[in-house]
Amino acid sequence: MTTATLDLEKVGAFAQHIGGLLAGGATTAMMVVGDRTGLYAAMAAGGPLTPAQLAADTGTAERYVREWLAQQAAVGIVQHDPEDGTFTLPPEHAAVLAADDSPAAMAGAAPLISGMHRRTDELVEAFRSGAGIPWADQDPTVFESTERFFSVGYRNSLVSEWIPALAGVHEKLRAGARVIDVGCGHGAPVLLMAQAYPASQFVGYDVHAASIETATRRAADAGLSDRVRFGVSDSQAYPDKDVDLVTFFDAFHDLGDPVGAAAHARQSLAADGTLVLIEPRAADDLATTLGTIPMAALGFAASTFLCTPNSLSQPVGLALGALAGESRLREVLAEAGFGSVRRAAENDFNMVIEARP
Ligand SMILES: C[S@@+](CC[C@H](N)C(=O)[O-])C[C@H]1O[C@@H](n2cnc3c(N)ncnc32)[C@H](O)[C@@H]1O
Repeated sequence: MTTATLDLEKVGAFAQHIGGLLAGGATTAMMVVGDRTGLYAAMAAGGPLTPAQLAADTGTAERYVREWLAQQAAVGIVQHDPEDGTFTLPPEHAAVLAADDSPAAMAGAAPLISGMHRRTDELVEAFRSGAGIPWADQDPTVFESTERFFSVGYRNSLVSEWIPALAGVHEKLRAGARVIDVGCGHGAPVLLMAQAYPASQFVGYDVHAASIETATRRAADAGLSDRVRFGVSDSQAYPDKDVDLVTFFDAFHDLGDPVGAAAHARQSLAADGTLVLIEPRAADDLATTLGTIPMAALGFAASTFLCTPNSLSQPVGLALGALAGESRLREVLAEAGFGSVRRAAENDFNMVIEARP
């Protein structure tokens, strides 16, 4: 390739852009370190700290901490005071990185990226062969991180906004309803609903046995085992009937056969039951999604590494992709026999699609 025809200013600007992306990728690894060693939590609690003070507070080696702090200052996560050599994590940054119970918590997403990196070889091979990669074959970090990061949004919106936006569902749950969650993973949204609605019964199903073990443990730890059960089942195999509410939290687009799964859910629902899809927010066409959805870059990466390979690993292999958009989801639901479908709620990350038989 000759450089004579290139606009070198554009090359420089684009190289800078790529440099920023590379720094972002490296920073996710640094975030995992800060999270796991307790550096963020200690900085949130400690005010301005020298590397030596932070190392002492966290039982870590000062030389490593100094290097880590310099990088965190370089990317604007912490502030450096050259006068006294201290570093500060501003409270607004601590709200995002230092505590999982914050409504803005995002540190839990960083290990998801590490987990994706660990399956790069397998994905490259899948690109060549076209074969799928089941969720169970992902690095376990992915399961933990999915639970941790997605839980933030569920805590923020599920009970306070999403359920009240569904026609008659809050009232049914309060009175005592039967709920099934499909593709439940570690069960975080099931436990949140169970805590909010003590008269209702909940069952979570997932094909991934290790996730079901974890979910069962989480229910026991929360003292909810009398009303919450988790079981291993494919989305088209669970036996329940006369269910009031079937939910799919960020799982519908992962399925090989979402039409079959929605049809099975329809057979399981009572005549006046409700199906709910919580899906990543996306527009109906790629250009609009690229222009309007802030999470598109992360969403398409997760879809390439996790969601699309899982769908391709299962019968039918429809591979909707994580950002399929409402129109495509409506087509799938209509094919499964749902006559009435609407977008009941949304936030920056998710849209809530309600369907009635
Ligand atoms: C992205 S995770 C979401 C987990 C959980 N709902 C949450 O929001 O934290 C997708 C889940 O769908 C499950 N899954 C994939 N294919 C499935 C199938 N055919 N039947 C049931 N579950 C399935 C995976 O095992 C995984 O736990």
